[in-house]
Amino acid sequence: MFEELEKVEQDCLNCKKCPLCKTRKNIVFSDGIPNNNLVLVGEAPGFWEDEKGLPFVGRAGQLLDKIFESVGLSRKKDVYICNTIKCRPPNNRNPLPEEKEACRSFLDTQLEILKPKIVLLCGSVALNSFLPNIGGITRVRGKWFEGKSFDGINKAKMMPIFHPSYLLRNDSR
Ligand code: URA
Repeated sequence: MFEELEKVEQDCLNCKKCPLCKTRKNIVFSDGIPNNNLVLVGEAPGFWEDEKGLPFVGRAGQLLDKIFESVGLSRKKDVYICNTIKCRPPNNRNPLPEEKEACRSFLDTQLEILKPKIVLLCGSVALNSFLPNIGGITRVRGKWFEGKSFDGINKAKMMPIFHPSYLLRNDSR
């Protein structure tokens, strides 16, 4: 599994499939632990993620770590973290459909290698990438949905959750 993921990451490092390759400092492939059946898919790297080459290391990432901690999980031991796209969009705008499309095979290959039983869809960009027809994030967050089968036997359970950047802007949530 580790070697397969490294190979995909290497391909990603050389990727020039969309114009974001021209403005990226680093690709942001993943963090956390790959063999625990639990994956969180976020949106796209921001400023600090692009600087460091790791997902969720800015303010939103710090909140995400606290959220994990509140339920006894940690990114070091329990969860693999990645994004729908691997390069930072300028000014942190939402990824464009063509950027998501160009990057999709990296995400799909990551998940095919990991074969997670549980996928947390963090925010509406991730939600729309996997479960586009179930409703908006506010209505569906915190609920379980049946997703794709990555192991060819069981369908992965998917749960949309609010994005920590949204929570930072909306305290009451
Ligand atoms: N927001 C995301 O969706 N992903 C990151 O890696 C950082 C912020």
